[in-house]
Amino acid sequence: MNTKETPHIKPNGVEIAETVLLPGDPLRAKFIAETFLENAQCFNEVRGMLGYTGTYKGKKISVMGTGMGAPSMGIYSWELINVFGVKNLIRIGTCGAMQENIDLYDVIFGMGTATDSNFGQQFNLPGQFPLTASFELLEKAKKVADEKGQKVHIGNILSSDVFYSADPTAIKKWQDMGILSVEMESVSLYWNAIQARVNALCILTVSDHLITGQQTTPEERQTAFTKMMEIALELA
Ligand code: HPA
Repeated sequence: MNTKETPHIKPNGVEIAETVLLPGDPLRAKFIAETFLENAQCFNEVRGMLGYTGTYKGKKISVMGTGMGAPSMGIYSWELINVFGVKNLIRIGTCGAMQENIDLYDVIFGMGTATDSNFGQQFNLPGQFPLTASFELLEKAKKVADEKGQKVHIGNILSSDVFYSADPTAIKKWQDMGILSVEMESVSLYWNAIQARVNALCILTVSDHLITGQQTTPEERQTAFTKMMEIALELA
């Protein structure tokens, strides 16, 4: 029985699986548990950051919200990895598309992440460090997408600390470097996973488009989300 707890995760005896899906929104974690998992049990309610463990096709899997932004993702992913022994962390989130050939609702795998965040400064490395996804998870996810006939974009994404930017030129500079899309959590997820030698992958659905200005409604996002979920759940 799991008797461990942290300031932010109190599982009350419920196990946390080695593979955890991480949506930003805790209510989405609840929706996933209720819609896709069998025998789901709630393992966290602290700060409303809901987490559940259940089974999918007989395999144990957990799903938990992370909140928005690198610090929040940094806290939850660190505790899941270093206290609860989680080995595979799969962020399932939304992003803003930054290239013309990417459409609303497309699915993106973040092979690497660029960032304006200082989260990595704590490691005091004597140079730059390439923040990459786990090749093992990325390869598996690509295989699942291929089997389902789902088109995905794979490449570099941007983990930004700023949603409402005061600098209108910043996005253009990242676009010119081929960045596919922007979100706000992959930086701390990848750093924590890399440091602890565990696996992380960021799977994203495009919820808005930074070139065309197109946006999706919450209802449409829910539907599009299912496409991404079908890939993520197979990684258990
Ligand atoms: N910026 C940052 N994070 C996001 C966006 C965005 O435009 N869309 C969805 N997550």
